[in-house]
Amino acid sequence: MAKQDDQFKKVISHAKEYGYVFQSSEIYDGLSAVYDYAQNGVELKNNIRDYWWKAMVQLNDNIVGLDAAIFMHPTTWKASGHIDAFNDPLIDNKDSKKRYRADVLIEDYCAKIETKINKEIAKAEKRFGDAFNKEEFISTNPRVVGYQEKINTILSRMGKSLENEDLADVKALIEELEIADPLTGSRNWTDVKQFNLMFGTKLGASIDTAMDLYLRPETAQGIFVNFLNVQKTGRMKIPFGIAQTGKAFRNEIVARQFIFRMREFEQMEMQFFIKPGTQKEWYEQWKKTRLKWHLSLGMGEENYRFHDHEKLAHYADAAADIEFKFPFGFKELEGIHSRTDFDLGQHEKFSNKKLQYFDHEDNQSYVPYVIETSIGLDRMFLAVFSNSLVEEELDNNTTRTVLKLPAVLAPNKAAILPLVKKDGLPDIAKKIVDDLKWDFNVVYDEKDAVGRRYRRQDANGTPFCITVDHDTLENNTVTIRHRDTMEQKRVKIEEVRNIIKKEVDVKEWLQKM
Ligand code: GAP
Repeated sequence: MAKQDDQFKKVISHAKEYGYVFQSSEIYDGLSAVYDYAQNGVELKNNIRDYWWKAMVQLNDNIVGLDAAIFMHPTTWKASGHIDAFNDPLIDNKDSKKRYRADVLIEDYCAKIETKINKEIAKAEKRFGDAFNKEEFISTNPRVVGYQEKINTILSRMGKSLENEDLADVKALIEELEIADPLTGSRNWTDVKQFNLMFGTKLGASIDTAMDLYLRPETAQGIFVNFLNVQKTGRMKIPFGIAQTGKAFRNEIVARQFIFRMREFEQMEMQFFIKPGTQKEWYEQWKKTRLKWHLSLGMGEENYRFHDHEKLAHYADAAADIEFKFPFGFKELEGIHSRTDFDLGQHEKFSNKKLQYFDHEDNQSYVPYVIETSIGLDRMFLAVFSNSLVEEELDNNTTRTVLKLPAVLAPNKAAILPLVKKDGLPDIAKKIVDDLKWDFNVVYDEKDAVGRRYRRQDANGTPFCITVDHDTLENNTVTIRHRDTMEQKRVKIEEVRNIIKKEVDVKEWLQKM
């Protein structure tokens, strides 16, 4: 655990030191769980968004984009169920006065049991070596089976209690498991209460006539209320999707873990409208497609897993998370939800407008069912950033810090470095920058010895360093150094563009899907 904490601290400080993420309003001591993206962060964030948008909208002829407003008519949130049901169960510790999400306390308890399972597996793996069969061990080892049964029993009881709004039982579970305040160890808990996560605001200049509004807690509702507009104007035929990226706001009870859980964050969501009765197939299909998108970035298959929901949101008949191995363990990165006809049905009811699709093949109208894929852009940023940050031991007994971002997402694709600041080398380097910047983000760097500049670019995540030296004057060649292998090759200046393009081209990456 201490090792995980250390790694996470390194991620946070590296993000600040290298211009990726700053705390919001830092000069006023910051604002809790609100962050700003700095000069490199904004590029990485844009590239992730672009990678998602291309895979979703550009490459699917039956998915189109949308950019709906953050403010929506307040009835939207009555219809969607957010006013009545977008709650988290909170619990206060009477001694420490700290507030927690009751379900997260229980989930963290289960995560500790899971750590014990992993320890048993690691021990057995060591003992049996190549002969070790992990699957068989997990299903037959009495200790592991016992731990897993315990986790299942706890989570299923919590799921049922939350579904039935039996908050007394959630508290009873916390007490029975003897869960203590993680900060102080106190077990002196209040009752569990529901807390609505939406931020309210007002529209209008006068207090008497101002309208109560909410900042949207998800982008999805902007898609639902525009369903018919898009379907008609785009002459879309079911099955089809509408995708959107944008800010969402939640007054999280406990917002911690850096940009993992924020109060203002960005979502990338897609609602896929389908014929009722086909939801099971499409749900499975989208689970597969989304996992492939993640795997195309090459961040390690072992770092992803599905988690099927026990407790379903008020709108879903099936739901799963794609979990990622963050520095603090496996946590939700993306949700795939089978939302039935709940949202369109509710908006029909509350607006008194028909939100139906006429199916020419079946000669009938119906309210479409919906499969939703929903991923937090900030969470994806954290997944990419934390997975990429490595401390490497080198042959000469030194270490280097390198941010091995997938090249397609890196903020700058190349740094152009004159070996020395004289003999005309800076002029040639600047000419290369001026030429390449039409195709890629590139930076010019002439400060410090070249070795230090390489290290700086490694830590910044720049995939290539191009060095202009005295040989360049003779034969128009430069060295190109690869961030991950540190290998250097001499190439002609005119070859540089294609070498970079091959490694950063979205097509090359997305074709792996
Ligand atoms: N429209 C469905 C929906 O909003 P969700 O599971 O509540 O579903 C979807 O959120 C995704 O949004 C999550 O998987 C996560 O990546 C991201 N997300 C949710 N709350 C967040 C928060 N407070 N901070 C950062 N990302 C968040």
